Amino acid sequence: MSTPDAARAGTFAIGGDMSVNRLGFGAMRITGDGIWGDPADPDEARRTLKRVPELGINLIDTADSYGPDVSEMLIGETLAPYEAGTIIATKGGLVRTGPNVWEQVGRPEYLLQQVHKSLRHLKLERIDLWQLHRIDSEVPREAQFEAIAGFIEDGLVRHAGLSQVSVEEIKAAQEYFPVATVQNLYNVANRQSEDVLDYCEANGIGFIPWFPLGGGELNDSQKYQQICDKYDATPGQIALAWALKRSWVMLPIPGTSKVKHLEQNVAAADIDLSDADFEELSNLK
Ligand SMILES: NC(=O)c1ccc[n+]([C@@H]2O[C@H](COP(=O)([O-])OP(=O)(O)OC[C@H]3O[C@@H](n4cnc5c(N)ncnc54)[C@H](OP(=O)(O)O)[C@@H]3O)[C@@H](O)[C@H]2O)c1
Repeated sequence: MSTPDAARAGTFAIGGDMSVNRLGFGAMRITGDGIWGDPADPDEARRTLKRVPELGINLIDTADSYGPDVSEMLIGETLAPYEAGTIIATKGGLVRTGPNVWEQVGRPEYLLQQVHKSLRHLKLERIDLWQLHRIDSEVPREAQFEAIAGFIEDGLVRHAGLSQVSVEEIKAAQEYFPVATVQNLYNVANRQSEDVLDYCEANGIGFIPWFPLGGGELNDSQKYQQICDKYDATPGQIALAWALKRSWVMLPIPGTSKVKHLEQNVAAADIDLSDADFEELSNLK
């Protein structure tokens, strides 16, 4: 097999001016169990991060809450100073009180503190893409959107995005700042955000599907298996190839803590799904 290269999935310009190879990397898994504390094998996590740019990936997704802080600090320690053109996308707006516990905090002063902490942990002067992890339902959303507009205006953040939102919420945010990306749960087996994806496509907004390897129940389907066999690919690779073909605004960020899995995931950029197989997979759900 030739060396996997994320560049083969093509590029997308986030916010119209930050070109990235569409197949990115999710850095949530370089933490401990329950996305809490240090990874079980920190050396392998560092090797995985080092391999990311070598494989042509220049979009890395993280968040202040992964660990918390662990993922951002590992990225900063391992990859800074970054290769030219590397886009680190981080998020704020969730706090952690224990493994697998996530609470929303959208108070503007808290969000601002987190932006400053992310800058420090990632060793950056400006965050290229900062995403509101969740709109806090207990804080007026306008206050959260205004805060984000302020981060851009003050030069702390270049472009901003949202996570786990509806079309209505994107439109509301667009009154305050240009929404560059939307990060929602989406994969070949879970297409609840189809309307959001369509809106992003129509408006040139990058759509970052989280849990992109999720094929879940579809992995058991005979047809799915047949397509995997046909391309000599794993179910995860087919899920990624399907996502990449689904839309030109799709920016999958498969996450792993292991070099071998990273290489496997990037190899999905080489799979050229036929239109017929794409349709077949789309209709399995
Ligand atoms: N915005 C949000 O609310 C939100 C929520 C969740 C995630 N995210 C982001 O989305 C990214 C991806 O989401 P995700 O991590 O939940 O889902 P994912 O990338 O679809 O799946 C990750 C899981 O699959 C395993 N895996 C990865 N590659 C593999 C391979 N080639 N073979 C076998 N197993 C493999 C990983 O374990 P190993 O470490 O063992 O490989 C991990 O358990 C995260 O890293 C994060 O950046 C965002």
